[in-house]
Amino acid sequence: MSHSTAPPRKILVVHGPNLNLLGRREPEIYGRTTLEQINRGLVEHGARLGIAVEAFQSNHEGQIVDRIQQAAGGCDGLIINAAAYTHTSIAIRDALAMLEVPVIEVHLSNIHKREEFRQASLMAAVVTGQIVGLGASGYRLALQAIAEMLPAPMAVA
Ligand code: DQA
Repeated sequence: MSHSTAPPRKILVVHGPNLNLLGRREPEIYGRTTLEQINRGLVEHGARLGIAVEAFQSNHEGQIVDRIQQAAGGCDGLIINAAAYTHTSIAIRDALAMLEVPVIEVHLSNIHKREEFRQASLMAAVVTGQIVGLGASGYRLALQAIAEMLPAPMAVA
């Protein structure tokens, strides 16, 4: 009897404004790892976990809302660093609130020990959990956490 595995579970990673410049942007705060390196690491780690990882970055609030809406129903979990929109965007928060899958908010820096305007996250009350201050590792830990929350993929005959 031959067994194939069920289609891989899917996780969407959403990166907000200015994160396209990671590696060059204020490296003393955000580190030297580029967004491409972060995304590549997530795809590779996802493959080990049986999870397909898709990454999306935009500097535009409405495009982020559109992508989150598209994800509803089409993915098993979402990781988001909404960057500056974390502190301002009710629209992104409302889009996240509609999702019925685990959502992890990630920040490279520890927003709680920075300027006062960064300490509040409009996303916090609608996400499953937050990982802050652990740099690029935070994304991998978020992926690991979502993988542990999802039911194991069923083998299909
Ligand atoms: C950030 C923190 C935000 O305050 C900031 O606007 C960012 C990055 C972080 O990952 O630490 O762009 O989300």
